[in-house]
Amino acid sequence: MAATLPVAGTTAVDVLDQLGLPAGATLLVNGVGGGVGLAVARLAVGRELRVIGTGSTAKREHAEAVGARFIDYTAGDVVSAARELVPDGFDGIVDLAGGASLRTVAPLARDPRNLIAVGDMSVPDLGGRFVERRVDRENLERSARPALDGLLAPVITAVHPFSDAPAALATVENGHASGKVVVKVA
Ligand SMILES: NC(=O)c1ccc[n+]([C@@H]2O[C@H](COP(=O)([O-])OP(=O)(O)OC[C@H]3O[C@@H](n4cnc5c(N)ncnc54)[C@H](OP(=O)(O)O)[C@@H]3O)[C@@H](O)[C@H]2O)c1
Repeated sequence: MAATLPVAGTTAVDVLDQLGLPAGATLLVNGVGGGVGLAVARLAVGRELRVIGTGSTAKREHAEAVGARFIDYTAGDVVSAARELVPDGFDGIVDLAGGASLRTVAPLARDPRNLIAVGDMSVPDLGGRFVERRVDRENLERSARPALDGLLAPVITAVHPFSDAPAALATVENGHASGKVVVKVA
């Protein structure tokens, strides 16, 4: 489990700290079903934010298990579904999907500065910000602490032996991974 924390956990802590939203605020996690998305959603729920996540059908169960409402982008128009749940726009958006999907959801932010992208560096073109990463001991401890306290439990969807590493990498490189995929070295 510890191996899944350094990247997804610290990234989730960084985006939520940079948004700095108060309890009760609304947060859209675009691409909630992957490694970073589920960590963001889980920690945000722990901070008492109202979390709505987008993903394809298979991600619903994982998103709802961490306490997020789910919008299936394969089932209809994401913007209409999001506006139905949060008519006045979101206090914050964390984007993990990038590209056309980021551009589709960007107008849902009440204030574009509260749109933070983790993978798509073109986000400033939309008025948003790219995540500022702090990969140091303090941040590692800040993502380990909620894990130890039971507030962050990485969703591990597959464990592959080292000999299957190419297949494991292929499942995360296709852009539609579920949670974290682990390669066991020994
Ligand atoms: N800046 C940094 O330090 C940093 C750190 C970590 C990650 N990253 C980057 O951040 C991105 C996300 O990382 P990750 O580890 O969470 O990736 P991931 O595990 O591959 O998750 C991405 C998720 O987005 C979903 N998705 C794809 N298209 C979507 C769409 N149109 N609408 C909604 N969801 C969609 C995918 O599955 P479904 O489409 O099946 O729902 C998948 O679950 C990657 O680009 C990664 O390289 C950057």
